[in-house]
Amino acid sequence: MAGRERIELKSLDEVRAMRRAGLVVAAALAEVRAALVPGATTAQLDAVAARVIASSGATPSFLGYEGYPATICVSVNDEVVHGIPGERVVRAGDLVSVDCGAIVDGWHGDSAFSTVVGEGDPADEALVATTEAAMWAGVAALAGGDRIGVVGEAVEDLVDSGPVRYGIVQDYVGHGIGTAMHQPPDVPNYRLRPRGHRVTPGMVLAVEPMLTRGSGDTHELADGWTVVTDDGSRAAHWEHTVAVLEGALWVLTAEDGGAARLGERGVRTATPV
Ligand code: MF3
Ligand code: CO
Repeated sequence: MAGRERIELKSLDEVRAMRRAGLVVAAALAEVRAALVPGATTAQLDAVAARVIASSGATPSFLGYEGYPATICVSVNDEVVHGIPGERVVRAGDLVSVDCGAIVDGWHGDSAFSTVVGEGDPADEALVATTEAAMWAGVAALAGGDRIGVVGEAVEDLVDSGPVRYGIVQDYVGHGIGTAMHQPPDVPNYRLRPRGHRVTPGMVLAVEPMLTRGSGDTHELADGWTVVTDDGSRAAHWEHTVAVLEGALWVLTAEDGGAARLGERGVRTATPV
């Protein structure tokens, strides 16, 4: 639990180094999004991300992580996270989540988006939009937030304020990130008691809510990676890597640093030079 593990606090120079990793991830995800058309295989999407990361002089962080065999995770429909790219063909109407991590000079960036391919079910579009809104609510809550628990409180409140009853996945959580992809503290997407570590400048966190159209319960497939919903309901996943600065946030994996989506919530973003 919170309280005892050491948090790696980053200097401003180290945050700037992490920004370079964040921008590589953003570029890779933008190209994967453009390639995400009906008929594409998930292995082709993986190759797109691998090419962007390599041409940026960066290293994929997922490849080889605990034996993970690819550069990105592609999770389709009832798959929540950690779907392994392969010969699966993406179809119009599929709900696809793409997660990517890259390393530059030893510093990690981690981000994910979900989308519905082509013309889809409006209920899936709503799930994707609500999950993205939940991520931004969780990120924004870090500004002026006292404890890490503010993230899960904001995610829960955002989900509860909507007209649809979504499941919040509890089996997987956000995390600290820096010289490793996964660092303390855990960043859950639900209310925490106690409310976790104090939020302090120099913390860099991956905020990554996962919502479903059913219950939040999940299990892992026999491939040892792919996480699916127990009830077969579709799931969405959004993630950004965000630095907590003095009086501001910097969303390292967002091209604009989070200015647009945090600005509309009255949260200051910084792009230190
Ligand atoms: N991006 C995922 C996370 O945030 C990690 C993917 S698992 C891997 O935890 F094995 F693919 F790296
Ligand atoms: Co992550």
